[in-house]
Amino acid sequence: MRVYIETLGCQMNRLDSELVAGQLLGAGYELVDQLDEADVFLINTCSVRAQAENKVYSRLGREALADRRRIVGVLGCMAQRRGADLLKRYPFVNIICGPGQLDTLGEMIARAAAGEKTIACDPDRKDRTAAAEADSSIDSLDHDRNIEVGSPAQAYVRVMRGCDKFCTYCIVPFVRGPEVSRSPDAICQEVKQLAAVGRSEITLLGQTVNSYRFPAGDATVRFSDLLERISGLSGVRRLRFVTSHPTDFGDDLLEAMRDLPNVCRYIHCPPQSGSDRVLRAMNRRYTRAEYDDFIDRAYAIMPDVTIAGDFIVGFPGEEESDHQASADLIKRSRFKNSFIFKYSSRDGTVGAKTLDDNIPFEVKRRRNRELLAVQAEVSLEHYRSFIGREMELLVEGPSPLSDKPVNVGADPNLVQMLGRTRGDHITVFQGPESLAGQYVSARITDAASFTLFAELAK
Ligand code: SAH
Ligand code: SF4
Ligand code: F3S
Repeated sequence: MRVYIETLGCQMNRLDSELVAGQLLGAGYELVDQLDEADVFLINTCSVRAQAENKVYSRLGREALADRRRIVGVLGCMAQRRGADLLKRYPFVNIICGPGQLDTLGEMIARAAAGEKTIACDPDRKDRTAAAEADSSIDSLDHDRNIEVGSPAQAYVRVMRGCDKFCTYCIVPFVRGPEVSRSPDAICQEVKQLAAVGRSEITLLGQTVNSYRFPAGDATVRFSDLLERISGLSGVRRLRFVTSHPTDFGDDLLEAMRDLPNVCRYIHCPPQSGSDRVLRAMNRRYTRAEYDDFIDRAYAIMPDVTIAGDFIVGFPGEEESDHQASADLIKRSRFKNSFIFKYSSRDGTVGAKTLDDNIPFEVKRRRNRELLAVQAEVSLEHYRSFIGREMELLVEGPSPLSDKPVNVGADPNLVQMLGRTRGDHITVFQGPESLAGQYVSARITDAASFTLFAELAK
């Protein structure tokens, strides 16, 4: 049977989809990249904002009108959260599978082919102990990884699952369950196998990846210790991690980043707001001064570090002065880029229960635009500072900025290619398509707010 997988949401979902793809290939399924050709349509979903859920409704609405029936499976966070509701609205759906049950998906597809429906998650689950029980199955998904499926030079590796922070706006702790760190031995084993087949850029994943802790006798393996262990494995050329939480960013981690040569000096550590009042209402567990201190320590220990952030605009009760504090934080922190989101109330969160979503959409939209404009200015200055320098790029492939590879030069063998620096700067240059998956050295010739332009170094 031919399977088409569509993935929405964060890197965690991208990794889950890759693991599912590997598992299904191993079980004799074929993967296709056109929905038209598929006998099985799997959609791996996200619930983090209303917009993410709306996308799933619209995809399933389109599927309802499709000429031919195929097996349809809704996977991931929205399956976990709205499974029963989805089945009611879209009775043709065969499989509902939360993120904790993905290791049994092959069986579910076989049962769907025999006409059975499966709901693998308790759709009304409020009980986090049940979530914890599901953990062993997630580990088995990681364990049985088919290491050859996925991008040739890059790989995500999960180091922890779930989240215990309970920011008042966020659905993640409810759909992904409690925080559990994987054993360092299992992680290192997985990285070794990936590196052995040339997947030399490893990105460690966790919702709050730097909160990683694993008990080892009387001691604890901290995230900085884990980085040190992984960085020593042969074949690991670049080591990255996302996403970090500001409260768990100690100097031990900053110093490990400085001292371990293959760890990329790139930090994604969302502040969410620059205002103490809003941070408190969000239950972020740090103050503005503490965030500023983290930024100062990061630049003091690694003057060349690149930092990225996330913000939520229009949080309940956010006033103009709070919004200005966020704008000020972007300038002060000199972020490379920020992801800026309009507040979206999520049923079941403390925010939805206790806070009034009282900022009009128009105001959210304006604040979103304003923060983007401030960030674009800061980014331009940041990107321009690289002009004239020679940098290492990992080439990802032809630039997806155009639909098909464009031939930009006189040489018919050269197309516009895209690579990334160690600091996660997207860089475009002319080169042969055969460079995909390789490291090259390039001289930066120009910069825009979110792109570097380069030529291959001779
Ligand atoms: N675990 C990561 C990110 C989780 S979700 C972290 O803690 O940093 C990714 C981003 O989505 C968050 O950083 C936040 O900016 C945004 N987000 C989460 N819930 C949201 C909501 N209800 N409305 C708008 N944005 C939200
Ligand atoms: Fe959500 Fe906060 Fe956990 Fe991030 S730290 S996943 S924003 S609850
Ligand atoms: Fe979305 Fe689930 Fe990730 S809600 S952001 S896909 S953990």
